[in-house]
Amino acid sequence: MRCPSCLAETPGLPRFCPSCGTRLAAPAAEVRKIVTVVFCDLAESTALSERLDPESLRAVLIRYFTLMRDQLAWHGGTVEKFIGDAVMAVFGVPELHEDDALRAARAAVDMRAALERLNDDLERDLGIRLSARIGVNTGEVVTSGHAHGDQALVAGEAVNAAARLQQLAGPGEILLGPETWRLVGPSAVGVAVGPLELRGKRRPVLSWRLDSMRSDDPAVSRRFDVPFVDRREPLDELDRTLDEIISRRDCRIVTLHGEAGVGKTRLARLWAERAGQRGVLVGSGRCRPYGAGGTLLGVADAVRDLVTVGTPDPEALAVLRDGLLKDGTPNPSQQETSWALRSVLESLGRSTYVLIVLDDVQWADGPVFDMLGDLAEELRDTAMMVLCVARSDLFDRLPDWQPASRLPLPRLGPADSRLLVSELAEVTAHDGALLERIAERAEGNPLHLEQLVAMLGDDGEPHGLPLTVRALIAARVDRLGHDARAMLECATVVGREFSVEELRAVSGTGEPGELLEELGRKSFVEHRTEATFRFASGLIQEVVYNGMAKRRRAELHERFAGWLAEGEGGDEAVGTHLERAYRHRADLGPPDDHTVRLRGEAAARLSGAGTLALRRSDLSRAEKLLSRGAELLGPAHPGWPQVSGRVAETAIALGDVERGRLLLTEVLERATGDADALVAAHASLYLSHFDPAGSFEIARRAIPVFEVAGDDLGLARAWTLVAQEAQGRGRFAETRGMLQRALGHAVRSDAELERATILGNMAASLWLGPEPAPVAISQCHGLLAAHGRDRGTVRAVVRCPLAVLLATRGRFDEARATLAAAGQSFADLRHAYADAFMPIFSAAVESLAGRWDVAEELLLRACARAEALGDAQLLVTASRDLAGTLLRRGDLAGAERWAGVALEGSPGDAPMNTAELHAIRAEVLAARGAEDSSRELMDLALREAGGTDSPACRATVLLGNARSLALLGAYEESGAAARGAAAEFAAKGHLVGKGWASAGRR
Ligand SMILES: Nc1ncnc2c1ncn2[C@@H]1O[C@H](COP(=O)(O)OP(=O)(O)O)[C@@H](O)[C@H]1O
Ligand SMILES: [Mg+2]
Repeated sequence: MRCPSCLAETPGLPRFCPSCGTRLAAPAAEVRKIVTVVFCDLAESTALSERLDPESLRAVLIRYFTLMRDQLAWHGGTVEKFIGDAVMAVFGVPELHEDDALRAARAAVDMRAALERLNDDLERDLGIRLSARIGVNTGEVVTSGHAHGDQALVAGEAVNAAARLQQLAGPGEILLGPETWRLVGPSAVGVAVGPLELRGKRRPVLSWRLDSMRSDDPAVSRRFDVPFVDRREPLDELDRTLDEIISRRDCRIVTLHGEAGVGKTRLARLWAERAGQRGVLVGSGRCRPYGAGGTLLGVADAVRDLVTVGTPDPEALAVLRDGLLKDGTPNPSQQETSWALRSVLESLGRSTYVLIVLDDVQWADGPVFDMLGDLAEELRDTAMMVLCVARSDLFDRLPDWQPASRLPLPRLGPADSRLLVSELAEVTAHDGALLERIAERAEGNPLHLEQLVAMLGDDGEPHGLPLTVRALIAARVDRLGHDARAMLECATVVGREFSVEELRAVSGTGEPGELLEELGRKSFVEHRTEATFRFASGLIQEVVYNGMAKRRRAELHERFAGWLAEGEGGDEAVGTHLERAYRHRADLGPPDDHTVRLRGEAAARLSGAGTLALRRSDLSRAEKLLSRGAELLGPAHPGWPQVSGRVAETAIALGDVERGRLLLTEVLERATGDADALVAAHASLYLSHFDPAGSFEIARRAIPVFEVAGDDLGLARAWTLVAQEAQGRGRFAETRGMLQRALGHAVRSDAELERATILGNMAASLWLGPEPAPVAISQCHGLLAAHGRDRGTVRAVVRCPLAVLLATRGRFDEARATLAAAGQSFADLRHAYADAFMPIFSAAVESLAGRWDVAEELLLRACARAEALGDAQLLVTASRDLAGTLLRRGDLAGAERWAGVALEGSPGDAPMNTAELHAIRAEVLAARGAEDSSRELMDLALREAGGTDSPACRATVLLGNARSLALLGAYEESGAAARGAAAEFAAKGHLVGKGWASAGRR
């Protein structure tokens, strides 16, 4: 804040300006509150002014205003202003009450009744009648607690909506807005009207015509109908106490206490009923937050229950009848009332045991406690128990109220919460996970559970915070002193848990210790460890956070981000707080320079954190962070293409190919600036995955762009593509240098995904290239040792070709174990491609093991996945292998069909693929006796295979040739081809293949 005297910027919320020493007023802090607004206007007042002399009119209006103001004030409303004949009042300012909506509704009903009484006079004296239209609406407003100068008491759409409801009400009618109706709940009697258009609401909403108000008994407003979840411990404890009292014949006061909604009333009523069944004489009463009658009204209700039964001590009873029992006052005096009550109770106690239950004692005033104290001290030889039921904050107000022994009522445990939530919701109608979430959020408070379940909308999700819960908590927060509240607000910015040090950083003040102690005592926060605290519930944190003005939230987030940035705070935490700060400021109006700066920095931090996560293969986190960064920047921002390019890559890696593709296309369109060449190069490189035909050219062209920029990541990717193209041509020896180069760039740029891809390609080269299998196997182990530690992806992609190599040596068990380990790594990483990738390798191993049926199934799955992912390269490989497998199983038509699929997707110059595919098709033709075309195709296959340096490829084609020739009856030629195949397999150390070839003309 700024010092009003010297205008110095003062850090935190100090009480004195550090520059000039001026005492700083507790800032007339703006807060956001849920309040209920009442508008009341006279109907047909023009007619009135025509009929009455101005003097009489003025007198009538003054009587009307006074009457309305009295009703409003009596229920706790603040009259903000009179406009013409209209009155506007707010419930919730300056002080919130948890029942503001109820108070407003009651006030409205009383206003109407009061006007009727006034009308009797007016009719008699002036021959006129007044009638009013009343509108009541609840909603969020901003207020600084009091009206001053030209500042309104409250501001917000909720006010306009209340005025509108008033205009729509007929003469003598009260209209309630939907939120008010929900809050007053079953206590109100009325009918729906509308839907009506209200400002601040997107759609017309139902409103309600309020006819009357029912009793405020919690059994009406709450769900006492839901089966009771057993509370064995407190019930047993109460039984024990009562037994003791009965056996000792003494008088004792027990205070059952806990937070609002935890179930005190329900429990006390249940237990009292059971005590009544045991023959105990029970009287119950309830204190009210406000209302008519004397301070002892609650006690009076209880005593009335007791004395209706017998006729004890008539003299004392007469005293009570004249005061306490009449109107709840201690008439003729407190002392005499005390005496009379004692006498009555003593005489009752001679023949029975007495239990008085006094609920909501937190609302009681001094005289109640004095009276109870007197009873406990002076009552003789009477077995009487007084069960006071109160919120725990009673002890804040009356720390030394001693005569009571305290029985705390804790929240429900998780199992009981789940039980209750399933009672409340029709379990079958909602899914278990949702109910679990509700139970978790309510944290064992049955009322919160009830309200959250009631909020399950049509779409089944509880949105936001139930108004009743918010009202209860907000009223508690409102009663905190300024400093304690400010400290609590600071804590909400840190999180559910916070350390003293963090709190100091957000608040900018020295020692939060004392305030934290107070907040702990009042059950807002709990100690976690020596120096850390946590909110007693997440709902408290939410309510306090929502109660701050957005400007203040923005300031606190920004300050905390600054502190985090100076210390160890990572980009993610700093970025998150800056993002919040930005969003709050942006909500307040057109962004100023500062807001724009915040946005830029938040985006940079989040994108930085996302890029780091991407490098670490933490894909889902990367995707979230980068998306937030991109969204903050917006597509028009020059930095957008770069961040969005990364979002796209991550989305693709996670399997959301369509989104990634679209985004990359948009990035390419928008990456038009000078600085964007690099971004564009990356985008087109990535897009080429979907169109492998052009990828080599794109990579070639991108390399110089990346070199100029010194972009290692780009170079790693481009060289990988170039190497992959050489692999496609079957020139594996050539790829060695390219992949080495790519690996160097990947390591330098710390790019984990790329490193893994390159190492996978290296292993694939070892499998398909000229190295003899034993050498290739040991080199794969070398790659794993050098790069596999702590890198799941690397281990997985190297192990796949390694498994096939092992299988070529007949080491099937090892091969399968290696694949299983790879599969586990992929699963841990939640890598979407693994589903398409793994089965291809498993199929290769299983075919080597002779299990062609298993291979077929695996490859069908791989094809389906590759297709779903839109990965052309994977689809070509999988369908090629599937064609070969089907051929081995004698399914000629299937082999032909899948070979066709593979050929269609194959890039132009990819002899590794086409050699095998032509060989497959040639064999199909041979089986059908089409000798000429079979031979023609086979020659083509042999030529293409001969151009590769892959013994495996050459051997496979030669073996196919041997089989085709045998089918055509050319046994001699076939034998020669088989010998050639055997030699190639032998050169590779491919024992299984050598066996196939030697078995000859199969
Ligand atoms: N043990 C319980 N089993 C089932 N419902 C409960 C239980 N305790 C409380 N509730 C429900 O929770 C709501 C709040 O209980 P209530 O007794 O009014 O709380 P408190 O008096 O502590 O504010 C009520 O609707 C009540 O029915
Ligand atoms: Mg209660």
